[in-house]
Amino acid sequence: MCGIVGYIGEKNVYSILVKGLQRLEYRGYDSAGICIANSGLKVYKKKGKVSELESFVASKDIHGSIGIGHTRWATHGEPNDLNAHPHTSMNGHFVLVHNGIIENYAELKKDLSEKGMVFHTDTDTEVLANLIEYYYQQEEVDSAEMAVRVALTKVVGAYGIVVLCNDEPEKMIAARMGSPLVIGIGQGEYFLASDASPIVEYTDSVIYMNDGDVAILEKNSMLLKTVENSAANFKVTKLDLSIGDLDKGDFEHYMLKEIFEQPKTISDTYRGRINPEKNDIVLGGLIDVWDQITAANRIIIIGCGTSWHAALVAEYLIEEYARVPVEVEYASEFRYRKPIIGKGDVVVAISQSGETADTLAALKMAKEKGALILGICNVVGSSIARETDAGVYTHAGTEIGVASTKAFTAQVTVLTLFAFKLAHKKEKIDQQTYELFIEEMLAIPDKVQSILLGHPKIKEVAEKYSEAINALYLGRGYLFPVALEGALKLKEISYIHAEGYAAGEMKHGPIALVDDNLPVVVVSAQDSYYEKVVSNIQEVKARKGNIIAVVTEEDNGLREMANDLFEIPCSHPAVASLLTVVPLQLFAYYIALMRGCDVDQPRNLAKSVTVE
Ligand code: F6R
Repeated sequence: MCGIVGYIGEKNVYSILVKGLQRLEYRGYDSAGICIANSGLKVYKKKGKVSELESFVASKDIHGSIGIGHTRWATHGEPNDLNAHPHTSMNGHFVLVHNGIIENYAELKKDLSEKGMVFHTDTDTEVLANLIEYYYQQEEVDSAEMAVRVALTKVVGAYGIVVLCNDEPEKMIAARMGSPLVIGIGQGEYFLASDASPIVEYTDSVIYMNDGDVAILEKNSMLLKTVENSAANFKVTKLDLSIGDLDKGDFEHYMLKEIFEQPKTISDTYRGRINPEKNDIVLGGLIDVWDQITAANRIIIIGCGTSWHAALVAEYLIEEYARVPVEVEYASEFRYRKPIIGKGDVVVAISQSGETADTLAALKMAKEKGALILGICNVVGSSIARETDAGVYTHAGTEIGVASTKAFTAQVTVLTLFAFKLAHKKEKIDQQTYELFIEEMLAIPDKVQSILLGHPKIKEVAEKYSEAINALYLGRGYLFPVALEGALKLKEISYIHAEGYAAGEMKHGPIALVDDNLPVVVVSAQDSYYEKVVSNIQEVKARKGNIIAVVTEEDNGLREMANDLFEIPCSHPAVASLLTVVPLQLFAYYIALMRGCDVDQPRNLAKSVTVE
């Protein structure tokens, strides 16, 4: 959600903050602001993108070498200049930036108002600023750091905060509970950020703060303690990220770059996990827990959005080949619906960012109930990755486009390897089938590449449908989750209302939508559902719907009925989702482009959803 950046050292802080905010803008782009410590705490903030903040500060005093910045995704209070961060406490002693939600803010605000404190914004963050100031004024509190720690003991909710104090301008205080913060360690300088993207240009030496940690940073010293004032455990790690990963390169948008990266990200994800000489799959992160996995009564997979769609693909795969019961749940439902879980269950949390609040809370709940918790995350060192008992990283690289593309195919790659390995271990598939699956997986990157080469045709078709108001996406079996994912991509970046449906369900309701204005995207492969899908599409055809069909090169049924075709290479049905989704990603991209939408930063969305 929101993005935080901070710096303390000798360099010009303004350029570090602005560059950092631009890198973090994918996390929130409702408003942005900075505070620079230079003869007082100077705060500049503006509604809109970071570029608007830049124009606003052009004539202002931006000198200094200590400062904090923030890019906001609004939770409490509409996006405007006033509600933008940083927030200043009533008497100006403290300025802070915050990511997360203070759940008991209304109660705290009432209490502080009764004590005479005045508020100027609708935000929960201002309440925290005033709460810190309130404690700072108490006799027994002797420093800014202590005021921050005491205030945080009164707070319920999630936060990543960075605080500057007028009386101690050579210090930066940061604290984390539920919202990520990374400290970058330089020579006589420290960086702070919500993720490593603003830091990587300056240092590869970082500390991922833990929940309950408070960091007190000065130019030449760092103290990490807990909110309760005892020493905190921490580990300095090396960043596995390069500045080139954060560039758009020759592409117009991050999303397009990320779609085109998929042949590489899929092979990066299976590299080192498929041993082609031994015809085997080795998932290093699961070695110690395979006995528990193979003995599991059932597997529950949780995630949100696109990650939930990847989970659905896994449900089909694991049940068909490994014959283990699988349940797929939205993390946001699972965490509150009092599910029956216990020892003997395996819960797999899927998350690109590794920070999604609902997924994190759901896995913590399942962990308390004794389930084995596995993680499939993209961001190394993320909160979800750190909470799990074991897991497998997707090696998709940094995903910046808000609409998830390469992360989805990387997740499906890991889940497919997991399903095949589990099926083999449980002797539900023979060696020959196992080897066939491995071969099929190894062939995927080249096939994806060939689909990408067909992008001009996809663009042409997108042009035809760019004015659509609604769209229906249909698929069955492994390709039902792909239909859902295709519809999600279209709606989130082009704002066209799109629904994904299991093709067989169409006649139970959505068929009422079909007329000669409705684009109906049908996703097919040469699988056991094919004939059924053809019959479903006859029903659309009979009602004059515009059929856009994703078909294999060998198709000779749907292609006759379709108005437009996206052709994909043949594959085993078990891996077909990795191919069929690619034309749908490009289709959504080109439609959004033609409609003039902000593809990488669609309205109302944020990349990393750290609030529930
Ligand atoms: C859609 C999209 C979202 C995310 C969802 C979960 O393109 O990006 O639906 O998939 O917010 O995010 P992660 O995977 O980070 O938990």
